Order: sequence, then structure tokens, then C-alpha cells
Amino acid sequence: MILDSANTDEIRHALEMWHVDGLTTNPRHVQSSGKPFRRVLEEIAALVAGTDKPVSVEVNPHLTDWKAIVREGLELARISPNFVIKVGASEAGFRAVRELASQKVRTNATLVFTATQAWHAARSGATYVSPFLTWREMHGDASTNLISEVVRVVANGGYRTQVLAAAIRYARQLAEVAVAGAHCVTAGFSVYQESFGNPFTNLGENLFREAWDATARS
Ligand code: E4P
Repeated sequence: MILDSANTDEIRHALEMWHVDGLTTNPRHVQSSGKPFRRVLEEIAALVAGTDKPVSVEVNPHLTDWKAIVREGLELARISPNFVIKVGASEAGFRAVRELASQKVRTNATLVFTATQAWHAARSGATYVSPFLTWREMHGDASTNLISEVVRVVANGGYRTQVLAAAIRYARQLAEVAVAGAHCVTAGFSVYQESFGNPFTNLGENLFREAWDATARS
């Protein structure tokens, strides 16, 4: 379970309390952190320093030339050994992923909406491929089958790419993508917060507290 955030307070809490497996960021998360890009990346790098937790960091989304994407990816990768370079799915993006992989830089192919895009990502040597779920659902498409298709594409081809289910909005989706075979999932702070509890758990705890209080201790 990976936290999708660039908010250092959230990240600190998630590392300490939830032992999250890693972090993903994107330009919108960095913007909402309210801090300059480079500064927030350095702060995040410090929080995971000495661990093997991957942190996906997205290249400038304006870049359309694969060599420019590679140059920026290499620069970002130099900031921290934890950094995984996040590249948007496109012809140039996949070419950049291939080059970064050949230079042993880990990548996350993001903004993936079809199993075919995921196949391109896996063939290019992406470390992670991120199919986005809820963006599709908002437009009427089912998305859990996207995860199982991508998982099959990766397994059938014998690729080492990990399927990272992304754009998760509610707790049930965490379980659904795990059942569909995703290797990992990334979700925002509030999704995880909500996922720990359940109104029936609260009801049960209240019932048990009442029984406890009504029972003699010895
Ligand atoms: C994942 O890596 C992305 O950062 C994320 O899931 C993007 O989508 P969202 O911000 O709409 O969830």
C-alpha cells in the first residue's frame, strides 16, 4: 500500500503509523503542498532516506521529446536513490522509459487507461505501470477488469513490471484491486484513513464496552 501525496505531514504519519510501502506524487500533489517542486522533493527524500521505499516523482508534463524526458528523469533520480521516475504514457514516454531502464533508473508509467498502453509500458521495461481507475469510472467505464487485464498482460509476457493501481477514491477499491491481482496500490491519505474502520466495528465495540462495564471484574 502506497501513499499518494506530497504533503510531508501526511507522509510522516503514514510512514510511522501505517508503515506504507512507498509514496507516489504528481504535479497536483506537489502544487497542493504549497512548496516549490525541488524543496518538497528534497523533504520527501529525507523522510524515506535509508529505507527501500520507492517514491514516484513525475517529470515535467510539458516535455514531449523523449531525450528531454530522459535528461529530466536522470536529474530527478540523482536527488534520491528512492526516486522512481514517473512518465506519462505516450510514444515518447515509452521511449524514455526504455532508455531510463537501460540506465538502471526505475520508472513508473503513469496515466495508463488501457491494457494496450500497459503492454507498451511493460515492453519498455517500466518498473511500475499505473492504471488509473476512478477517472474511467467517472466517465462510465468499468475499471476493475482493467486491473485484471493488465495483470494478465504482464504475467503472460513474463515482464517484471509491477501493476500499481492508481486513482483510488474509496476503501472498497483497495480490496477490489488486490483481488484483481494488482501488485500494489496507491491512494490518498483520506482513503486509507477511512479504510481502517467500519460503522459495524464501532457498533460492536460499543456493545462489547457495555457488556464489559456490566460484568463484575472478579
Ligand atoms: C498515481 O500515481 C497518481 O498520482 C494518482 O492516482 C492520480 O490520480 P488522482 O490524484 O486523481 O487520484
